[in-house]
Amino acid sequence: MRLLMSSVPPALRQQWLQYAVAPRPIGLVCTVDEEGHPNLSPFSFFNLFSTEPPVLVFSPARRLRDQTVKHTLSNVLAVPECVVHIVDTSMVRQASLSSCEYPAGVDEALMAGFTHIPSECVRPPRIAESPVQMECRVTEVKSLGEQGGAGNLVICEVLMLHVSDEILNPSGTMIDPHRLQQVARLGGDWYCRVDAHSLFEVEKPNQKLGIGFPGLPEDIRHSPILTGDQLARLANVEAMPEVLTGFEDARVRHIIQYFAHTPEEMERELHRHAASLLDAGSLQEAWQVLLVASHI
Ligand SMILES: Cc1cc2nc3c(=O)[nH]c(=O)nc-3n(C[C@H](O)[C@H](O)[C@H](O)COP(=O)(O)O)c2cc1C
Repeated sequence: MRLLMSSVPPALRQQWLQYAVAPRPIGLVCTVDEEGHPNLSPFSFFNLFSTEPPVLVFSPARRLRDQTVKHTLSNVLAVPECVVHIVDTSMVRQASLSSCEYPAGVDEALMAGFTHIPSECVRPPRIAESPVQMECRVTEVKSLGEQGGAGNLVICEVLMLHVSDEILNPSGTMIDPHRLQQVARLGGDWYCRVDAHSLFEVEKPNQKLGIGFPGLPEDIRHSPILTGDQLARLANVEAMPEVLTGFEDARVRHIIQYFAHTPEEMERELHRHAASLLDAGSLQEAWQVLLVASHI
């Protein structure tokens, strides 16, 4: 399926793109108007774009129905300061409630049952319930158009980061991803959460140079069994592994005996075994199984 963006009506285009570009973190943004009345709204068109200087961007878009702008935008144009909060699982429904379009001057934090606490560097208050609060100065607002759906990039320099002690790792030196259970927005009414089931680690490839796909032996690279993800784990090694003389594996012995008369099937079965070792995180063992398969 292909969609030429210019021929898709704006509301449908918004849906397609929001389902496609997901998950998006949610920044819950507190601003104030000129009289100092606070306003709170969640934005999933939001991310971190620089650390020197530390810069966040979120985008309150013009309303699709009437092209009007959101209170958050009017507020940052009048008072260029905000507090951006990270939304976690415990507060996602309150954050969603704060997106209701109450009249100007109505504080959505109150409506959503959040608690204000004073900020240290900026006028807008913080939301006590959020485990990560970033006090920001708005350095620039870039309008992307006048049509409904047009974004307004609110570029924010982070002046102060507040982190709840409850989400730090045991040594207290960094945020523990198991403890900060962020939520993110997908398309429609879908959300996802970061928790023990969804977290996994991918070793950084830039500390050493992996051999890459071209460095993999042909039989492995064109394996009908191994997926791109599994090949990427193999191709992340710095040098082609050597055959280890002491390598012992009962499953390999069984496969070699059982498929003694069908070498092609033997190779596939060894690749299947290597694939499950890779999925279990046993990279070196998987390589040894594949080297056995290569020498059949
Ligand atoms: C989780 C979530 C994420 C949202 N993200 C955005 C966004 O990125 N941009 C936007 O314009 N509206 C977004 N909305 C809708 C706004 O939050 C909503 O229009 C808000 O009430 C605007 O309030 P304001 O007029 O007080 O600024 C989002 C709503 C929810 C629930």
